[in-house]
Amino acid sequence: MSILSGKTGLIVGVANKRSISWAIAQAAAAAGARVALTYPNERLEENVRELAATLQNPLVLPCDVASDQQIDALASSIDAEFGGIDFVLHGAAFAQKDELSNPFVQTSREGFRIALDISAYSLIGLTRAMVPLMKKRGGGSVLTLTYLGSQRVFTNYNVMGVAKAALEASVRYLASDLGPDNIRVNAISAGPIKTLAAMGIKDFSSIRDVYKERTPLRRNIELDDVADAAIFLLGGAGRGVTGEVLMVDAGFHIMGGA
Ligand SMILES: NC(=O)c1ccc[n+]([C@@H]2O[C@H](COP(=O)([O-])OP(=O)(O)OC[C@H]3O[C@@H](n4cnc5c(N)ncnc54)[C@H](O)[C@@H]3O)[C@@H](O)[C@H]2O)c1
Repeated sequence: MSILSGKTGLIVGVANKRSISWAIAQAAAAAGARVALTYPNERLEENVRELAATLQNPLVLPCDVASDQQIDALASSIDAEFGGIDFVLHGAAFAQKDELSNPFVQTSREGFRIALDISAYSLIGLTRAMVPLMKKRGGGSVLTLTYLGSQRVFTNYNVMGVAKAALEASVRYLASDLGPDNIRVNAISAGPIKTLAAMGIKDFSSIRDVYKERTPLRRNIELDDVADAAIFLLGGAGRGVTGEVLMVDAGFHIMGGA
């Protein structure tokens, strides 16, 4: 029997075929899950619908994670269709372009607010809305995506690093709150992958060059590396893991400078 067969999941953060969330959606579907995908606006709706059409019996719903109403509406629609939910993948992040190219010291109040709201607070809001649905299944698994820029300085990652630090702390507090309901909350900290979000970071491709030289595995991370680790955390094999930030970065984070 497939690892996620009979399970239903929500996947937030698919923009196109290069999205990490799309790789995870495909892996979850291949593992037997039925998934709901979301799109944040009309511009991305067609992309998401086209990708979803390649899956078995998908659900496609709108959700701008900056909106409490849209999150609540999403929870109601999923509950009506699935009658509960087993796992949630949160793969939404955003920062304004200037904040990812100007010196960090120039971070604006509004740029900070937007980055932290969409990239960190949204995990809290989305998880809260999904708690009743996961309780219907006797528990659940919530997973988000983060980056080592939460702890170390990477050129131009800037306010997104601060947002990821807040996101990782939120993972721990949510895991503590929701553990008694058998709801696990974890993050995967992925090595750099060429996606739409990553290309918004000035000089991003040079980060990948550095990883290729310095990681213990002497290679970059690809989408399927993250997707396979995600299936572990979303499914039963990860049942004893919560509040964790799992490094899927070919070992980059263990290395010193020289
Ligand atoms: N690509 C990398 O190198 C890398 C490394 C580590 C972590 N991550 C993280 O992985 C996650 C997915 O990013 P990705 O690299 O696949 O890029 P991506 O651009 O494909 O995904 C980012 C997603 O966030 C969504 N989003 C932005 N604002 C939103 C809003 N208001 N409401 C709902 N959704 C919104 C976008 O629609 C998009 O689908 C992000 O959290 C990112 O920070 C990426």
